[in-house]
Amino acid sequence: MSPDYIFHRTLKNKWQSISHGQGVYLYSTEGRRYLDACGGVHVVSIGHGVPEIAAAMHDQASKVSFTYGRFLTQPQIDLAEKIAAMTPGDLSRVFFISGGSEATESALKIARKYHLATGNTKKFKIVSRWQGWHGNTIGALSMSGRTAWREDYVPYLLNFPHIPPPFCYRCPYGDEYPKCGLQCAEELERVIHQEGADYIAAFIAEPILGTSAPGITPPPEYYPMIREICDRHNILMIVDEVVTGFGRTGLNFAIEHWEGVVPDIICTGKSLSSGYTPIAATITSEKIYHAIYKEFSSFVHGHTYGGNPLSCAVALAVQNYVEEHNLVSRCARMGNMLLEKLQPLKTLPIVGDVRGKGLMIGLEFVADKQHRTYFDAKKDVTSQIVNQAFDKGVLLMPGAPGLIDGIVGDHIAISPPYTISESEIDEIVQVVKETIEQISTNLGY
Ligand SMILES: Cc1ncc(COP(=O)(O)O)c(C=O)c1O
Repeated sequence: MSPDYIFHRTLKNKWQSISHGQGVYLYSTEGRRYLDACGGVHVVSIGHGVPEIAAAMHDQASKVSFTYGRFLTQPQIDLAEKIAAMTPGDLSRVFFISGGSEATESALKIARKYHLATGNTKKFKIVSRWQGWHGNTIGALSMSGRTAWREDYVPYLLNFPHIPPPFCYRCPYGDEYPKCGLQCAEELERVIHQEGADYIAAFIAEPILGTSAPGITPPPEYYPMIREICDRHNILMIVDEVVTGFGRTGLNFAIEHWEGVVPDIICTGKSLSSGYTPIAATITSEKIYHAIYKEFSSFVHGHTYGGNPLSCAVALAVQNYVEEHNLVSRCARMGNMLLEKLQPLKTLPIVGDVRGKGLMIGLEFVADKQHRTYFDAKKDVTSQIVNQAFDKGVLLMPGAPGLIDGIVGDHIAISPPYTISESEIDEIVQVVKETIEQISTNLGY
């Protein structure tokens, strides 16, 4: 069998063929075993090869896999109810789609529709953050702040404003928390003033950063300030929990780490199904839902596979499994353990920072620890580390290019399934340590 018929995303990798997965491990057709320390791409929460999920899939496929239009099915109804019970506040209207980009695109359109319904017809812009990531479709990419992935498509992108991220290790204002007064949150106010609140529909952010700057967690005052600014200007607060949703940071949703802050819209994906099927959900407050349907008879948007019964049944089985096995609290516990065991790596010459919450952990690499100087991008330290760990049988997630300013910065993410054991954590830490030591030596440290 030849891989020559696939339109590959890159030619940089040597492809491996995977035959099966079990727990936190993937097995290649050549007999190699890989510890999936990044859950694919922060997706796998309950581990690979869980028989209950295969059974649920078989069961639903034997009944009906696809319906459309005027039909609802029980798995869709049950999954929406299950999700509504997990979300904060009155976020209980669930719009199903197939992936994270569709979730953020849907949020963009829901925000617009809400403002049309409530008479604020000029509101259309979405403010987001540099170094944020919301997906690859044009609306999602317009809101995203990952320079390297926007570059080729800039002519297509919507001219939405971006503010700097709440990145304390590299404060965009050269200041220090808490004396900084959270200028990064105040920046939202400044941008709204400059653009005109009448034109701003929503602000979108990943509560704890995922793929572009894994593990960055804003200070306690940050989201209360953002919420207050949004409220004052009638701007919806959208949180993108495609990575963090459904337990990855140790609570159902990462925004819950900021007690009392309830967003208007939550975008989810990845861990909703733990990767067993493509499914995502955009969840809105009752207020938004009712405002739209008070004025209009339909929300003209949607995708063919949104809410299909097979994906809903599979995601429902996954969420039931998470609940029955207390995996969200396990994720918090194992995340603390992993973070604690990784912290000593800060003594290695090129490790600048180790950060994160739950099982969403990031390591940043620096050329000079005292001055936090970054490596020359040509050295591609991130790939060197990820490739070396791969050869040792541990899968790490390369941090997206441009952590610091969109162009430079080296980092990795570690985000294993919530089911990981202590000995598997030790295996990750050992391989990461050996790998960094080896690369440091190669770099002349
Ligand atoms: C925070 C966030 N939002 C949205 C997306 C886009 O999701 P998808 O790749 O499923 O379209 C991603 C993908 O990594 C993400 O990390």
